[in-house]
Amino acid sequence: MKKSAAFALVIGLSLAGRTWAQKFPDLALTPPMGWNSWNTFASNINETLIKETADAMVANGMRDAGYTYIVIDDCWESMQRDANGNNVADPKKFPSGMKALGDYLHAKGFKFGIHSCAGVKTCAGYPGGRGHEYQDALTYASWGIDFLKYDWCEHGTADARETYKTMRDAIHAAGRPMVFSLCEWGQNKPWEWATDVGHMWRTTGDIYDSYDGRKGWESGWKRILDLQYTLVEGNGPDQIARYAGPGHWNDPDMLEVGNPGLTMAESRAHFSLWAIIAAPLIAGNDVRHMKPEVRDVLVNKDVLAIDQDPLGHQGYRVLADPGKNIEIWVRELSNGEWAVCALNTSSAPADITIEWHYLWTIQGKFQVQDVWAKKPAGDTTKPLTVRLDSHDVALLRLTPEKK
Ligand code: GLA
Repeated sequence: MKKSAAFALVIGLSLAGRTWAQKFPDLALTPPMGWNSWNTFASNINETLIKETADAMVANGMRDAGYTYIVIDDCWESMQRDANGNNVADPKKFPSGMKALGDYLHAKGFKFGIHSCAGVKTCAGYPGGRGHEYQDALTYASWGIDFLKYDWCEHGTADARETYKTMRDAIHAAGRPMVFSLCEWGQNKPWEWATDVGHMWRTTGDIYDSYDGRKGWESGWKRILDLQYTLVEGNGPDQIARYAGPGHWNDPDMLEVGNPGLTMAESRAHFSLWAIIAAPLIAGNDVRHMKPEVRDVLVNKDVLAIDQDPLGHQGYRVLADPGKNIEIWVRELSNGEWAVCALNTSSAPADITIEWHYLWTIQGKFQVQDVWAKKPAGDTTKPLTVRLDSHDVALLRLTPEKK
């Protein structure tokens, strides 16, 4: 072969390699929705639980409301890889095997998600993916996996960007589209580099079922919400929000809606504010045995429409007034509409007044709909006062007045 032809071939191959090495496009164009085993079940998982969860999500309307991804978190693996280095499921917890479980979920209209870790071990001490990325991606593809959550424990001196890119490339090489969910806890500012690597990235440590408590590595949802606001330095309230959009989302961690540490008001507020910040909505409660009012929160179509708005703009806080016990968050929606969420941060019921002119970002006259109450709440020419329980919200949808 002539030198020039060989050179062209090398360039051609490396360009081909370049286009090959990418995340799967056209996935997660709105924030992914589903269920994950961790928040309620931790290591106490097995195939019966996963099947019962899927069956419950069909019966209670969650699947049809959009909760498509059923994700098995940590502790599904055997403690050791097999003799060929393959990652294998614990045969006691998953006796029928992962392929059969994936088939079951797919037949019911779900997508199948799984957890692994970029380090040598998962956070619970099971085999991690480091050094086995291409092998594991092939295994997951053969099981029909559609979503991979990839954790960050035991990563040693590994570079986060390179490590997550390696897994991205491995998934692509395996040839099965998977939502790639980076669970790196915001330690290396993934919002700055992960748009081309994954479809969502955690921004903080773990959530637990509390309003604003703290338990070591875990924080209540309000504390996690506050952290979103301070992750990126600079002027303007929408710093972190700017990094989100169709196919690449900030992930403030999974839902605690319906879990015992939250009041109903706190569950409703958590859900509303996760919708405002365009969060992936991954339920973390026992959906087989939930109260009807918890179900009604999770499947509320009008709140879900805010989270899933196709414009994909993440909302942000425009007002925090501890003296008046009020926070206001806003989100721009398609067609000139806005969502506004007012939170009563006090530990007692309070009258909260929304002065529309405070919301500097929203210009013009709008009709106001109270989303949870499902009724009109006037227009933006007059301040709106609402009575809110402790840690409850008013969630409002603003529609521009027709001229
Ligand atoms: C980390 C993650 C959690 C969960 C656990 C499992 O803490 O952030 O979401 O996956 O690991 O061990």
